Amino acid sequence: MTLSVRPMELEDIPQASGIEREAFPPPWPATNFRRELKSSSLTHHLVVYEGLYESKRLDGEPEGADCNVRSSKSKLETLRSSLRRLFRPEADRIAPRQRILGFAAVWFMADEAHLANIAVREAYRQRGVGELLVISVIKLAIERNARFITLEVRFSNKTAQALYKKYGFVEAGTRRAYYTDNREDALLMTADGITSAPFEENFLRLSQAYARKWGIRI
Ligand SMILES: CC(C)(COP(=O)(O)OP(=O)(O)OC[C@H]1O[C@@H](n2cnc3c(N)ncnc32)[C@H](O)[C@@H]1OP(=O)(O)O)[C@@H](O)C(=O)NCCC(=O)NCCS
Repeated sequence: MTLSVRPMELEDIPQASGIEREAFPPPWPATNFRRELKSSSLTHHLVVYEGLYESKRLDGEPEGADCNVRSSKSKLETLRSSLRRLFRPEADRIAPRQRILGFAAVWFMADEAHLANIAVREAYRQRGVGELLVISVIKLAIERNARFITLEVRFSNKTAQALYKKYGFVEAGTRRAYYTDNREDALLMTADGITSAPFEENFLRLSQAYARKWGIRI
């Protein structure tokens, strides 16, 4: 299975809504994706889909020309350019009827990025889709000069917490009875200093390990 990531488009909404209903069934309110996609440049929605990147390199070099580390580049710079190739939405033109496997929504407010929603199609969980979404959200937040990322997660949702902790999120507080369906508490988690060198280096290392694990060529 080859995974790719790109911004959500209007035609993805039926699939994204289906994934959301599967992950967060009623009485959890359904997201009005159409309104969110049309209304605000402060909200970004990403989708992971099954498919291939276009083979053309964005910078005009032939594919595979710099898969190896060049000695003149710093390690960090090499990792950065690897990441740029991994996430290249401009290179993707949307093929009709792409199968959407998961989505994430992130809001930007001043120097904060808030991961508002993330879900993966149930049949495709534990195959790296959620991790690719988290990597993409962090990358987007860094690009937009956010200083930190916040999110809320159910106390009982240890799966999602493990994913966030892997990427440097730490527990930052509790919101009592945050979830109206069962009055469960929310754990507030944050990733701070996301543009600091230590965070970026760790992030790039994890991203490369991810790419190796799931066979994504970078
Ligand atoms: C949370 C969720 C997005 C994870 O997506 P996923 O595609 O299954 O996750 P991945 O396969 O990319 O796994 C990445 C990491 O998540 C964690 N993880 C995933 N499944 C896990 C499980 N069953 N138990 C423990 N940790 C798990 C691990 O840290 C894993 O990294 P590892 O492989 O190095 O151990 C997915 O389970 C989901 O959609 N859940 C329902 C919606 C939801 O809870 N959203 C979060 C709201 S805050």
